[in-house]
Amino acid sequence: MSNVHVMDHPLIQHKMSYIRDKKTSTKDFRELVDEVGMLMVYEVTRNLQLEDVEVETPITTMTAKRLSGKKICLVPILRAGLGMQEGVHKLIPAARVGHIGLYRDPETLQAVEYYAKFPADIEDRDILVIDPMLATGASAVEAITAIKKRGANKIRFVCLIAAPEGVEALQKAHSDVDIYIAALDEKLDEKSYIIPGLGDAGDRLFGTR
Ligand code: URA
Repeated sequence: MSNVHVMDHPLIQHKMSYIRDKKTSTKDFRELVDEVGMLMVYEVTRNLQLEDVEVETPITTMTAKRLSGKKICLVPILRAGLGMQEGVHKLIPAARVGHIGLYRDPETLQAVEYYAKFPADIEDRDILVIDPMLATGASAVEAITAIKKRGANKIRFVCLIAAPEGVEALQKAHSDVDIYIAALDEKLDEKSYIIPGLGDAGDRLFGTR
């Protein structure tokens, strides 16, 4: 699992315990997902390129570092990805945001794209695909296939909780994609919910059922 990064920082684990708790309110759930998204960005962006810049401090001049290299595009998978994308965007505010929506065809059980909108220069950007749950992996695989079709080739996948089945499916389909997760859970149940998981991430983020 060399391209899988489990971010088990104590702060992330602490917040994840509340995110998983069914007693956590919608408001707190949204805030916590936002915060964990922010904490995860720290590690996800560890290898971004820097360049030297001359800066004048109130005391003297110095050579400091600023981000250079390829610009970033966030792609939340609708709808639960929206809730997690906000935290990520706070730390990378200049990132563009594409969106992709997929539904599961009841007959073929395949993920089918129903909405996609990306920045015109997507092929020149590093992509962070965001979805809190990596369950069967079908949506993630399809979303990344759709993004690659538009010319992007440096793609990372960021989620809160993954099932081993989802990780395996994503690795099989897109072995070049690094996967960043806050927790690797046990398995899927018969309805493809992650066990122990957190329930339905979209419903818990938006207070629906
Ligand atoms: N999507 C969710 O929101 N929860 C799961 O457990 C699996 C997929």
